[in-house]
Amino acid sequence: LKLVTIIGARPQMIKAAAISRAIRLHFNNEIDEIIVHTGQHYDAAMSQVFFDELQIPKEKYNLEIGSGSHAVQTAKMMLAIESVLLQEKPDALITYGDTNSTLAACLTAVKLFIPIIHIEAGVRGYNKHFPEEVNRLICDHLSSMLFVPTIAGIESLKKESIIHNNQVKVANFNQPKVFLTGDIMYDNTLYFSAISEQKKDIIQAKYKLPETFILVTIHRPSNVDDFNKLYGIFTAIERISVEFNKSFVIPVHPRTKAIIEKNNELSSLIKQLNILLIPPVSFIEMIYLESTASFIMTDSGGVQKEAYFLQKPSIIMLDETPWTELIESGNAILTGNDPEKIYLAYKELTQKKLKFDLKLYGDGNASTSIVQTILKDFKGKTV
Ligand code: UD1
Ligand code: UDP
Repeated sequence: LKLVTIIGARPQMIKAAAISRAIRLHFNNEIDEIIVHTGQHYDAAMSQVFFDELQIPKEKYNLEIGSGSHAVQTAKMMLAIESVLLQEKPDALITYGDTNSTLAACLTAVKLFIPIIHIEAGVRGYNKHFPEEVNRLICDHLSSMLFVPTIAGIESLKKESIIHNNQVKVANFNQPKVFLTGDIMYDNTLYFSAISEQKKDIIQAKYKLPETFILVTIHRPSNVDDFNKLYGIFTAIERISVEFNKSFVIPVHPRTKAIIEKNNELSSLIKQLNILLIPPVSFIEMIYLESTASFIMTDSGGVQKEAYFLQKPSIIMLDETPWTELIESGNAILTGNDPEKIYLAYKELTQKKLKFDLKLYGDGNASTSIVQTILKDFKGKTV
């Protein structure tokens, strides 16, 4: 079975590692996976580090599209992806999540009648101000096989009639098949936690981490592109730091770095506080930081779930999340970028006894069951 996998942004490389690992370990003789990197993320710390560390097969094509407005970036990707697909003629295309690389892959493949396998399907935040929501909506409606991590995702696909009459598995190109599988990022977190634990001395020494700290990631345009919003988040960090005597570690996304560097007021506020700003870290390092942190504040889709997987309380600095089960569990609070809400959420979560149900995102073997299902479907094989 010949599969083309299209990735481009940091979280997609990490997700691809889970599926490539399942192929390598269990189905190597049956699947020929060709990796195509759109080049959406291109800094070594946003791209190469994941290939080096997570054993993702080297990409056969790097389309080197880089940054740009949504239309420019997506259009350039589509042109380049079309010629790869025409050349490779795969049986199907795999794509992950909700970035512009995902959108370009889906729009291009569907018009070449190449079945799309969408992994992390059904995810909805119901806010089209987020480019990711638009990308997810379109991609799910174009896909032939949808692998859905959570029950909430299945409910969303029912509402949109992607699942008809409660049928979760009947298909052809026009009638998608939907599978509830659990989350491949839960697989990855379990798998790489053990490895990150072995590397703890190296990571500690490399970053000179404080003994206890709050881990923060911020990269959403809605939080960083408007300087006042980003400044507001840092005033909340200041208040927590001063009142509770806390240190912070922040691996800085390039989008956020650019805004911080442009603003003296923000840079000097950060310098006054107990904040360790570091470049984007590798995934194994990130898992170490997440497991060592006492608390996590994030606007990342991936990091909010990893906080849960690693049983850490978290503040999700967004107005809504597709991962509603995190909020329902009581271990995470949505605050948007409102400094007062962030402060109050921190107080609430640090005073509360938390309980994590680790079955919410599957059993840690989602990747293997996804690959098995794909093979069975395309080859009629029982493996
Ligand atoms: C993208 C995804 C977002 C995902 C995030 C993961 C879309 C619409 N957004 O957002 O869903 O959560 O990736 O990190 O696809 N830049 C660099 N070096 C790089 C990459 C980016 O300096 O290697 C800078 C550029 O100035 C660029 C900006 O970051 O303009 C934003 O990059 P882009 O890929 O457009 O969006 P992200 O914010 O990274
Ligand atoms: N991540 C990482 N290094 C970092 C920050 C994040 O490896 O410096 C990982 C993180 O653990 C998660 C993924 O990148 O698995 C999330 O990516 P990001 O926050 O960029 O995007 P999102 O998940 O919001 O789309």
